[in-house]
Amino acid sequence: MEFLNTIEFATQLDEEDLLKKFRERFYIPIVNDAESIYFIGNSLGLQPRSTQEYVLNELENWANYGVEGYFHGKNPWLGYHDQFPPLLAPILGALSEEIVVMNNLTVNLHLMMATFYQPTNKRYKIICEAKAFPSDQYAFESQVKLKGFNPADAIIEVSPRAGEHIINTEDIIATIEQHKDSVALVLFSGINYYSGQVFDMKAITKAAHDAGAYCGFDLAHAAGNIHLQLHDWEVDFACWCTYKYLNSGPGGVAGAFIHQLHATNTALPRLAGWWGYDKETRFEMEKGFKAIPTAEGWQLSCTPVLNLATHKAALDIFKEAGMQNIITKGQLLSDYLYFILAQINVTSISPLIEIITPPTAKGCQISMLISKNGKEIFEALKAHGILGDWREPNVIRVAPVPLYNSFTDVYHFGEILGKLIEKANV
Ligand SMILES: Cc1ncc(COP(=O)(O)O)c(C=O)c1O
Repeated sequence: MEFLNTIEFATQLDEEDLLKKFRERFYIPIVNDAESIYFIGNSLGLQPRSTQEYVLNELENWANYGVEGYFHGKNPWLGYHDQFPPLLAPILGALSEEIVVMNNLTVNLHLMMATFYQPTNKRYKIICEAKAFPSDQYAFESQVKLKGFNPADAIIEVSPRAGEHIINTEDIIATIEQHKDSVALVLFSGINYYSGQVFDMKAITKAAHDAGAYCGFDLAHAAGNIHLQLHDWEVDFACWCTYKYLNSGPGGVAGAFIHQLHATNTALPRLAGWWGYDKETRFEMEKGFKAIPTAEGWQLSCTPVLNLATHKAALDIFKEAGMQNIITKGQLLSDYLYFILAQINVTSISPLIEIITPPTAKGCQISMLISKNGKEIFEALKAHGILGDWREPNVIRVAPVPLYNSFTDVYHFGEILGKLIEKANV
């Protein structure tokens, strides 16, 4: 599509937008008495207007039934989490039995590594991206130490080439091949949180398997954002949070994917708890753990129903909107944003924006390096009601999100940023 940097063009795209009605389903934060341009759904997604009702419903059940709420009310809590795998399956490209909703993301990473990082003296390395999200780095380091190895030797990071910001797929694959006799686990994000780069998960998984290693992904920035085909790509495991693109609230419940091949294998080593125990006999409270032969076999604790209620409100909207429509609009929005940013560079006295997100491997988020007055420009955007985020030393991340952002949001953002860049150039 040929883009134009005009309000008429942006308005026309909004009019043609299949998902335009969904914006009013969300609370848009107000800044300066007007709706903000909320470009930070990659950090915390907005609250659906329906969320309160979903939570109130469970509070009401609790008030009315007490512990009997596990068996009574509209959605008895005993089976409450059974609603989630079918809703998440199209978002992740997974089978229902491969999905479980539980805990928070870093906890789930540890649980998955408890199973899939079983180092031996010969095979003990973890290959990951350089500058992975800090929580992941700490998880890798602590797992390696817990299992008696040295992080400096066991953790192999793949970096961008000198002077570049993104990591080449060939370099990832070459690194895996280079360590093929000693790698135990390849663990990348689906999308790097800083650069916005989408990794080639299919190719990375294949390379890991060819090297005899397991392969997992942190999908914090990918779930609900980009096309995923976890089952067909034969990814061994993945984890994600639900407070970003999945709009399920701050610290919302997270999820995990365990490939069918492994999920059905109740003999796999794991950290266990009673909610992962065979459902038929769980309440016999017997000694000796008997895993559920699905991803649920990794659950530890009883389900956090109030957190699940916010997740359900959000996923019902995903179902109604359709994941493919969400992906299609998300790509068009970020392509338009890319175009607008490039236009600002073309018309500036000197181009101050360097887009570090690759145009053909991106989701909603675009990260840009600002070479002059970056922090001031970021603060000024905020004062104009544009909410994005700042990452040291000089990166602004912005993410128009298909369920509640519009093409006119992108246009107005460009208009304001363009003026601020002009000012910085003077
Ligand atoms: C890529 C990535 N991994 C891990 C985390 C940590 O998630 P949690 O605090 O839910 O464990 C985040 C949080 O933003 C993240 O962006």
